[in-house]
Amino acid sequence: MTTEQNISLKPFHFFASEEKCNFFTRIQNTSQVHESIKWCNENKYPILFIGSGSNVLFTQNFVGLIAKMEIMGIKKLNETASSLILEVGAGENWHHFVSYCVQKGWGGLENLSLIPGTVGASPIQNIGAYGVEVQECIQSINAYDTLNNTWITLPNKDCAFGYRTSLFKQVPNRYIITHVEFILHKQPKLRTDYGAIRDVLHDKGIKNPSLENVAAAVVEIRTNKLPDPKKLGNAGSFFKNPIISKDQFEVLDKNFPTMVAYPISNFEYKIAAGWLIEAAGWKGIRKGNVGCYEKQALVIVSYGIVSGKEIFDFSEEIIHSVYEKFKVTLEREVNVY
Ligand code: EPU
Repeated sequence: MTTEQNISLKPFHFFASEEKCNFFTRIQNTSQVHESIKWCNENKYPILFIGSGSNVLFTQNFVGLIAKMEIMGIKKLNETASSLILEVGAGENWHHFVSYCVQKGWGGLENLSLIPGTVGASPIQNIGAYGVEVQECIQSINAYDTLNNTWITLPNKDCAFGYRTSLFKQVPNRYIITHVEFILHKQPKLRTDYGAIRDVLHDKGIKNPSLENVAAAVVEIRTNKLPDPKKLGNAGSFFKNPIISKDQFEVLDKNFPTMVAYPISNFEYKIAAGWLIEAAGWKGIRKGNVGCYEKQALVIVSYGIVSGKEIFDFSEEIIHSVYEKFKVTLEREVNVY
């Protein structure tokens, strides 16, 4: 294991703010996971594993070791006439992996095309888009359990997956994910029920879409609506869509009839946070080099040199203002350090 000292975190996260860390290392195999944890225990430093930094916000310098997960590889573990199981290294780029599966004709992940980040980060917040969540294709997860100092394989049912959450998010930094096992399908049931996908396919006159058509539709929708992190620093949705009680929904719905909401059970509704933020007047607002994206209010963007603290403070203002207007508390989806 080689460590570098006093390193700027700017190239390692999508907001590209200027914070630093004392130590930095790259993790390319499972023994380096163990070594880096041992090194931090011996030297009494905190350790933080990161992927490509697509969903993190650093609000201060990190006093400790940042370990960038770069374990690669896609291995076929099993194949039947209808499905196959792949073991994928945590450091693989998510979109490259999805595109590889689409090219091979293996379905299940196509609606999750173009989501930034790595394979190992995908289960942590159970990434989701256009009617699909990654948990639907996860068979199991290989991880190092830092509490019991042992390697474990967690089957899907033990991962506590929920909307933008999982065991790995609920008990942060306990499990270091090294590989994810996916189950994919050779005759996939394509999921085109999400309005935006239906509209793109309809506009193109595609009646019986292929796997490639669905993936291409998703890429088109995301490219049009979400900022390119290479041009504008951002971490995708900054907040989660809040879940509120049916009683609270009914009061809000009476006062704000255009509010976008979906029932998720007999007792709860999920509200489009983008709608709440826009209705509170934030869409397109810029303060210094931080702003609320003009095409999707759920995304906070950085326009240039900015500190993580400024981005955090801007998000606090949004939370307060949405609460004032709707009495709904927004929760951040990004991981703040
Ligand atoms: N809306 C507005 N104003 C806005 C944005 C959205 O009024 O500025 C309303 C629109 O009416 C729209 C509704 O909100 O119909 C939902 O918007 P959209 O389809 O863009 O989805 P979202 O709920 O804002 C979620 C995910 C996205 C994912 C899309 C598509 C969360 C927190 N975000 O956004 O995920 O791509 O659905 O499935 O659940 C991400 O997590 O980084 C991310 C981009």
